Amino acid sequence: MSGWSHRHVLDLASFSVEDFATVLELAQRFRSLPVAGARKLPALQGRLMTSLFFEPSTRTRSSFELAAKRLSAEVQSFSPSASSLSKGESLLDTARTYVAMGADILVVRHRCAGVPHSLARDLDRCGERVAVLSAGDGLHSHPSQGLLDLFTLARHFSPEAPGPASLMGRRIVIVGDVLHSRVARSNLWALTGCGADVVLCAPPTLLPECFADFVAAPPPGQRADPVAARGRVQVVRSLEEALPGADAVMTLRLQKERMQQHLLTSLDTYHRRYGLSHRRLALCGDGVPVLHPGPVNRGVEIAGELLDDPDRSLVEEQVRNGIPIRMALLYLLAATAPLPPPLTAA
Ligand code: NCD
Repeated sequence: MSGWSHRHVLDLASFSVEDFATVLELAQRFRSLPVAGARKLPALQGRLMTSLFFEPSTRTRSSFELAAKRLSAEVQSFSPSASSLSKGESLLDTARTYVAMGADILVVRHRCAGVPHSLARDLDRCGERVAVLSAGDGLHSHPSQGLLDLFTLARHFSPEAPGPASLMGRRIVIVGDVLHSRVARSNLWALTGCGADVVLCAPPTLLPECFADFVAAPPPGQRADPVAARGRVQVVRSLEEALPGADAVMTLRLQKERMQQHLLTSLDTYHRRYGLSHRRLALCGDGVPVLHPGPVNRGVEIAGELLDDPDRSLVEEQVRNGIPIRMALLYLLAATAPLPPPLTAA
């Protein structure tokens, strides 16, 4: 694909507007093709995608595996508890074992930030030609989720041409446990990269003030910001301040497994102040949609009736859009080697 230069996909801080445009355009093409069942696309025929998930996952893993199958790739899964890691094998040696079996793409999820990066760097040093795709690392990054959220919003604002321009100047509110969320971090890079302004809303224990500067400089290890003019980021403490004028609202799961104790006085109080409901959404205009990356704590960050309301909730749409977004990423990474023409249904 012209202009695409990423050997791995590890975060969205390194994505230019053209990169976002490339992924969204491919995803839109994949989304509109009837690719299920016998009508799979041959684009990744002969390729092997191996998923290495060291953390639980419902959506991300199945979505990657389905995306790979729809492009005719072979799929292999690794289960840490039943592996030689418990016998002391290093992560790099485990990964190289899968590469020796023919893996072309490793999809890696790990509870520690930076694991997909160091794996990619070490595999590059060993001269391996495998591509590493992060499926979520610690609190750091979840690029495919950030991209599917971007795609879902872009399709909502401009269904026929869901490119980066459809996000320009929009006000997107992200409410909830930003501190523990790799999804919020990836969304911050993606949304501001496409020119949207992001309003973050949560109590100080879940949203330190420094998040206002999150995209002000490239992350350590990256020399320059590939985006010339990003949208702004604002930190606010109440939904009453955040919601008026919003074009979309994303809420995040309270990540109890990552929290120290006493970050919240009670879940009830949290729901009263930061939980989304139809009544709360009356603070923004009619038809403003809500998103949630899942898994959801019903009745905590979002009321069940709002989550299930097809006129307001884009949650199922996010899950559906995850497949063409991951197809686009797999296609772009595997296409670093010669491939047959990908975009005609077999
Ligand atoms: C998220 C994750 O794992 O980071 N879920 C997902 O991949 N859809 C968010 C979460 O766990 O709350």
